[in-house]
Amino acid sequence: MNWTGKVAIVTGGASGIGAATAREFAAGGAMAIIFDINQAGGEQMVAQMRADGGKADYQRVDVSDADACRAAVQRVAAALGRVDYLVNCAASFISKGLDVTTADWERSLGVNVRGYANMVQACFEPMKATGSGAIVNIASISAHIAQPDRWTYNACKGAILTMSKCQALDLAPYGIRVNVVSPGWIWTPEVAKAANGDRARWEPVWGRYHMLRRLGEPREVARAALFLCSDDASFITGAELPVDGGYLGLGSEGLGDTSSFAGTA
Ligand SMILES: NC(=O)c1ccc[n+]([C@@H]2O[C@H](COP(=O)([O-])OP(=O)(O)OC[C@H]3O[C@@H](n4cnc5c(N)ncnc54)[C@H](O)[C@@H]3O)[C@@H](O)[C@H]2O)c1
Repeated sequence: MNWTGKVAIVTGGASGIGAATAREFAAGGAMAIIFDINQAGGEQMVAQMRADGGKADYQRVDVSDADACRAAVQRVAAALGRVDYLVNCAASFISKGLDVTTADWERSLGVNVRGYANMVQACFEPMKATGSGAIVNIASISAHIAQPDRWTYNACKGAILTMSKCQALDLAPYGIRVNVVSPGWIWTPEVAKAANGDRARWEPVWGRYHMLRRLGEPREVARAALFLCSDDASFITGAELPVDGGYLGLGSEGLGDTSSFAGTA
């Protein structure tokens, strides 16, 4: 894909799926700008993208702070004259159930729901000014299912689905499309942490949650997000694209190797 002359903001771009998304934009010729609270990681990513010949920059932004989002986007728009794409990836992974506290809710909702909304609000004016734009909100398969001790994370991801449809409706008159990508299990630092870094041990276990029997790579999610930003997706808005190796299509029978139905004539 050729993104020459375009400006893309990726929140959570210092790591994982966000980093892969920023890299894909920069590799295609866009100016990729990372908004993240992880300054060391963000600056390292920018250095890598520049070393690869791409255009990239970093701003330290906590997306739960609406004023900070607005000020940072304004700086980008003032310097570069436009904002074409926003990919909301930044996440709080607080996973709490019965033991959830008010502080847990405030952080979860603040980053995962309000944070996404803050960034869409902040990018609206510059996108409106050019009469076009595309936004991708990263949700999750967790938006659709029950998982243990996950009231916070799963509720936020469910909220992202519905909020994104409302955003798509409200921004359509301005030529701005809003879509969702819902990843399955992707091998990122957060998942690596859960596996104690032991991919060989855990991939065969977690891979079985997916029809494709493996975990996804950050780049596979990034490519889907870039497709939704591209003109190839010009008639797609308010949609959710699962990038989940078939996770959401599986039922209680899982991969089917413990169930069979021969049928009767
Ligand atoms: N990895 C998976 O298996 C998976 C599955 C489904 C959905 N997702 C979603 O994909 C997105 C990216 O996940 P990932 O696994 O790449 O995570 P990651 O931990 O690798 O990256 C998340 C980034 O968000 C940044 N961040 C956290 N809070 C922030 C804040 N308040 N403001 C700005 N930046 C902040 C972190 O510093 C980090 O760089 C998230 O929305 C996550 O919920 C991931």
